[in-house]
Amino acid sequence: MRKSIAPTHTLDTIAALRAVRAYAPQPVHPDTVRDLLDAAVHAPSAMDEEPWSFAIVQDRALLRQLSDRSKELVRQTAPPVWGGHLQPDFNVFYDAGTLIVIYGKPMGPFVVADCWLAAENLMLAACATGLGSCIIGSSVAALNTPEMKAKLGILSEFNAVAPIIVGVPSEETAATSRKEPLILAWKK
Ligand SMILES: Cc1cc2nc3c(=O)[nH]c(=O)nc-3n(C[C@H](O)[C@H](O)[C@H](O)COP(=O)(O)O)c2cc1C
Repeated sequence: MRKSIAPTHTLDTIAALRAVRAYAPQPVHPDTVRDLLDAAVHAPSAMDEEPWSFAIVQDRALLRQLSDRSKELVRQTAPPVWGGHLQPDFNVFYDAGTLIVIYGKPMGPFVVADCWLAAENLMLAACATGLGSCIIGSSVAALNTPEMKAKLGILSEFNAVAPIIVGVPSEETAATSRKEPLILAWKK
């Protein structure tokens, strides 16, 4: 594991993690991106498959195209709650300059779980470095279109599972509330 990310108390980092939706223009340094990927691949993996791989998109024109395509596809299936997120000037990536996409291959029974565990590691590592992140589920369908895979140079057998934006937060993000854990059984 790379050491440029200062050790923090795990529970503090979990508590500090937010879905950040406002970013400053500074880019994320390539070394930091590599540290985040390193944290991601330390996730547990069923049968040691390590089925994840990554694409990093820092080309703003490409991010805009991907955002527009995401909105088109969401519009076809969207519940009304997505209304504001479909406006022409809305960027599904909130103007973050870095998108890291976690792909799964092959799509076995635990591949999606492995990719999401890698995603959480990546986001916690980003939080520990002072960076913000947010999962952008609304871009999954667009990322999995043949056109977008071709644009990114991704072979068809790789499936986008977890797209995550990363960047320097431009403002504080308030914590969201959580329900108490619903314990269905605790047999002693
Ligand atoms: C699978 C998944 C998909 C998500 N997709 C989006 C998304 O497309 N756009 C977005 O702004 N936030 C997205 N989020 C972030 C959630 O909205 C966010 O985690 C939730 O509002 C709680 O906020 P918090 O993480 O700051 O506590 C997604 C989260 C998950 C787990």
